This record gives sequence, structure tokens and C-alpha cells, in this order.
Amino acid sequence: MGKICVFHGPNLNLLGLREPEHYGSQTLAEINQEILRIAKEAKINTECRQTNHEGVLIDWIQDLTAADFLILNPGAWTHTSYAIRDAISGVKVPTVEVHLSNIHAREAFRANSVIAPVCIGQISGLGAEGYGLAMRYAIAYKDRRAKE
Ligand code: DQA
Repeated sequence: MGKICVFHGPNLNLLGLREPEHYGSQTLAEINQEILRIAKEAKINTECRQTNHEGVLIDWIQDLTAADFLILNPGAWTHTSYAIRDAISGVKVPTVEVHLSNIHAREAFRANSVIAPVCIGQISGLGAEGYGLAMRYAIAYKDRRAKE
């Protein structure tokens, strides 16, 4: 059974300082701590990473296998990156897209995700709790797969 990977895209290293009215006051380290707590409780191998470099994220996605599970906040690449979309569909890794803010309730350009069509689903607007919900989904998904 593969692992759950949580990849955070550009500018998410600034959480806590960056536009708290949209993204809340928790730092990325605090969010990752809660993700890893859930993973430990479920005894599931989980890794959290952040990058500001699109090619680095593409390399990380290419290194996944279909047995892994990806929880991805692509940041602004959500709205622009066909390359990240192609990497996800190329590897066929089951993916859930997470956004802290409600991308459908902000500027018009944010409402469109080029990544969402290759994901199982999208969680948007639930703040840091969105990651916890995505983790619970990923754990249930992997449990189901393991029984097949
Ligand atoms: C974001 C939403 C994006 O539009 C934005 O560019 C981000 C963060 C979110 O988590 O709400 O960087 O992905």
C-alpha cells in the first residue's frame, strides 16, 4: 500500500502571515502537524511538502504511483497549470484538491480550476479543516482499495 502525500504549492509557506482574512492564521507547520497527527492515529505513511517551483512539483507528482494518494493545494497554479494537470492524469494518482479559501467566492479568475477535472474532488473554503477532511477521505479510500 502506498503513502498519502500532501503537496502545498506556491506562497503557502507564508501561511500565518499571508492574507489571514482569506487563509486563516495557522502556519503551514501547524497545518502539517495536524495532518501528521491524523496519519499517525490511522497508522498510515504520510508526507507533507511545499514548493514554490512548478517543475519541482511536477517531478514530485511523477515520482508517485497509482497506489499513492495525493492531497494537493496547487495555490495559484490551480488556475493556470496544464502541466500539473497532465502530471496527475499521467501518473493516475488518486488526487483531492484542497483550498483554504472558497475559490468560487473570490475574483473571477480563481473560480476556474484546470486541476479539478483530473481530481476525485475538491474541498474549498473550509480553511485548514479542509486538509483534515481530505486526510479522512484518503484513509477511507486506501482502506477500501486494500480490501479489493
Ligand atoms: C488557494 C487559492 C488560490 O487561488 C491562491 O492562489 C492560493 C491559495 C487557497 O488555498 O485558498 O495561493 O489555493
